[in-house]
Amino acid sequence: MTDYNNPSMFDSSFLEAEVAAKTFISEIFFFPEIGSTNEFAKSLPPGKNTLVVADYQTWGKGRLGGNWESKRGKNLTFTIRASFNARKKESQAINFFFSYYLLASVEAYVRQLPGDFEVPDFELKWPNDLLSKQKKLAGLLIESCGQNDFIVGIGVNVNQKKFMAEYNERTTSLSKLTGATINRQELLIRIIQEFDKNLYLLQNKQFDEVYKLWLSRCKMVGRRIDFKSSNYEIKDAEVIGILKDGGILIRIQEKENLFYSGEISIKHS
Ligand code: BTN
Repeated sequence: MTDYNNPSMFDSSFLEAEVAAKTFISEIFFFPEIGSTNEFAKSLPPGKNTLVVADYQTWGKGRLGGNWESKRGKNLTFTIRASFNARKKESQAINFFFSYYLLASVEAYVRQLPGDFEVPDFELKWPNDLLSKQKKLAGLLIESCGQNDFIVGIGVNVNQKKFMAEYNERTTSLSKLTGATINRQELLIRIIQEFDKNLYLLQNKQFDEVYKLWLSRCKMVGRRIDFKSSNYEIKDAEVIGILKDGGILIRIQEKENLFYSGEISIKHS
């Protein structure tokens, strides 16, 4: 018998009933173990809106060729492969949309949890991280698969309390933040429902609105940062702005520079 309250359990028929039958997702693949949900999603034929969920990834992919650490049975690691009405030039709207609505759904979920804890603050970090209390809670890896065809990979730290020494200090999870053990399946359904409810913004190409929503939860402008990309390593710069096309404007010794990819560490006083 399935124990729906077991936080370490996914029930694929329940997910089918709640997600595949009621949202934009038309098929679901669930894997107890897989290499990477993004890579599996890429191998699928286009044209369907697919959700790929894994309980464990043996080589989960992170941004900039990194890997995504996630303990077996503890977190959410999933990918959506779907078509969205965005040309190449507009594809940044997909990043803004999924990062913002991931934040909104996680925040709404945490607010309704029972228990005596202060609801933590959530914020977005360029290019597509979700932070709480200045630590990373979730990351998105969005890849393009062709015209209008996107791979949206999402990792959320849910019930994992300890991370590899290298990341432990700058990483958090919902259970670290709230003290609660979270039902991952319930949270996943809540996230997909939030995407579904707001998808009209992408369908109607309301990209300005999506950008403004994202900016409203990003506190990076004016902050001092260190910046690293494949060609540059910059210490103590200042964020001037984040543009609608996904670029970040950084002031380095009185000169403004625009970057489209890289890793940022925010300095905290
Ligand atoms: C980042 O580096 O911040 C992005 C992390 C994205 C991780 C998710 S987990 C599910 C999906 N499958 C992958 O291999 N990566 C993404």
